[in-house]
Amino acid sequence: MRSFTTSHGIFYNGDCIKGAALIPDNTVDLIITDPPYGIEGDKLHRHYNRDESFVTDGYVEIPAEEYESFTRDWILQAERILRPGGSLYIVSGYTHLRHILNALYETSLEEVNHIIWRYNFGVFTSLKYVSSHYHILFYAKPGGKRTFNTECRFSLSEKDENGGSLNYQDREDVWIINREYKPGKVKNKNELPTALLSKIIQYSSNEGDLVCDLFLGGFSTAKTAIGLLRRATGFEISPVMYDAKIDEMMAVVPGFLLDTAQTPKEPSRKRTRKAWNPEETEQLRKRYNELNQTSLSQKEVNQQLQEEFDRGYWSIEKALKQTGIKPGR
Ligand SMILES: C[S@@+](CC[C@H](N)C(=O)[O-])C[C@H]1O[C@@H](n2cnc3c(N)ncnc32)[C@H](O)[C@@H]1O
Repeated sequence: MRSFTTSHGIFYNGDCIKGAALIPDNTVDLIITDPPYGIEGDKLHRHYNRDESFVTDGYVEIPAEEYESFTRDWILQAERILRPGGSLYIVSGYTHLRHILNALYETSLEEVNHIIWRYNFGVFTSLKYVSSHYHILFYAKPGGKRTFNTECRFSLSEKDENGGSLNYQDREDVWIINREYKPGKVKNKNELPTALLSKIIQYSSNEGDLVCDLFLGGFSTAKTAIGLLRRATGFEISPVMYDAKIDEMMAVVPGFLLDTAQTPKEPSRKRTRKAWNPEETEQLRKRYNELNQTSLSQKEVNQQLQEEFDRGYWSIEKALKQTGIKPGR
């Protein structure tokens, strides 16, 4: 199979189902992929009303009647190449979602989250609602430690102007991320936004990890992964799309996204893990009762106790239970 190699990856021009044989079992840390939609993808851009000359030709679509077996075959390969604990993110529209879910159920892969990605430029309709979201299925291979960098983008102490946790908001399972509009630039018509890919790569991998995309398209996953100092690999069956990206990929500077990626503005505050002694537990009990006489909400009381005793919520709850108090949330 034809391939090219950069300092951070090897990329193949061919069918990912056959080509996956080139990747050994249990070696990939993270797979992010956006399989063909099975809905005449080569006409998709007309809905978006873009100037066709700016859209890379050569997208290879899967006939709807083959979609089910095609999906089963590539998902089995994804399961095989992922390391135990490795993560898989599949971006899918609604049309063939059931085939993807059925294929996943037949593997050992375990569901972690079902994310809704809401985007702009929904397909225009007049007699029904406009569809403006995709599904992102986040699964993991059992048997190893899954990477999830909880504070890679916002530390647990960062707040918005209303006191809400930015970390919590960033980890909610509805993501509002606009598609990129690059006027005048040659691009793949279904290219995933860098902001979306960065988010996944930051949470679910570490520098030096291997990120694979079985359906490279415009190579956006690979570019973002290398931009964040990960290694990358993958497949694109279309020679036209593959050839169109070789020069660009050879010129990608590893780490080019590190300066602009979302990172915590405040350092993460690691709570002490030390055990409670009886005096501290008694102090906690008194303080809990005191704070509960104030106008603070239960949530604010809990936060205050976490600060004062430098412990996480669960540790505080456990210690209070020992004194006979069952704190609310
Ligand atoms: C939805 S696009 C991927 C877009 C990509 N995520 C991006 O951001 O540019 C799906 C891609 O899979 C390619 N493809 C279709 N069948 C394939 C196969 N069996 N193996 C590898 N690539 C395939 C299509 O040509 C198309 O480029």
